[in-house]
Amino acid sequence: MAVLLAVAFQKAGHRVALLDRDPQGTATRWLRETRDVELAQPGVDYRLQVIDTPPQLDSPLLLQSLAEADCVLLVSSPSPADLWTSQDSVAVIRAHLRPGCQARILFNQVQPRTVLGKDLASLAHRIGLTPLTTHVSRRQAFQHSALLGWRALDSESREELLHVALELAALQP
Ligand SMILES: Nc1ncnc2c1ncn2[C@@H]1O[C@H](COP(=O)(O)OP(=O)(O)OP(=O)(O)O)[C@@H](O)[C@H]1O
Ligand SMILES: [Mg+2]
Repeated sequence: MAVLLAVAFQKAGHRVALLDRDPQGTATRWLRETRDVELAQPGVDYRLQVIDTPPQLDSPLLLQSLAEADCVLLVSSPSPADLWTSQDSVAVIRAHLRPGCQARILFNQVQPRTVLGKDLASLAHRIGLTPLTTHVSRRQAFQHSALLGWRALDSESREELLHVALELAALQP
């Protein structure tokens, strides 16, 4: 999602780089393959930077990222097991968020005609984060994009990502 959102920011006209702080290096590998967006180089000051953080909640790289960010996006599927994990993430985000920094939840892998997909606002309320008004659906095309990049996406997938990017851009200070 970090990669796809970075590309969406770029398509929306922002100059953006992606900083991959997840030691797994998925975003790095993805962007070396597709070259859709620049990978952030150390010491360079970018106008807009998307940081992919490590999944471990006690990771110093996560805490550093929270301390630096203007806006934090928690990405979760609406499934209860994922949301329980997200609950712990919310506590860490709250404890380390910079003053004035905005935090939101983005629901990903949403299946619109399911019970969970229909009640995203109340799921967000339960874990205590404001949801973005837009969400991202579960789509095969997003998996294809790891190999083929943005060009693998159909217009509906692109539109979802662009909506999310525009909503996030509007939150920036
Ligand atoms: N909307 C979607 N539709 C279909 N597949 C998706 C979607 N979003 C993510 N996936 C797939 O789910 C897997 C995990 O996605 P992603 O890397 O974004 O999650 P993550 O929470 O950052 O994982 P990790 O904790 O390993 O870093 C990937 O294989 C990805 O392709
Ligand atoms: Mg990840």
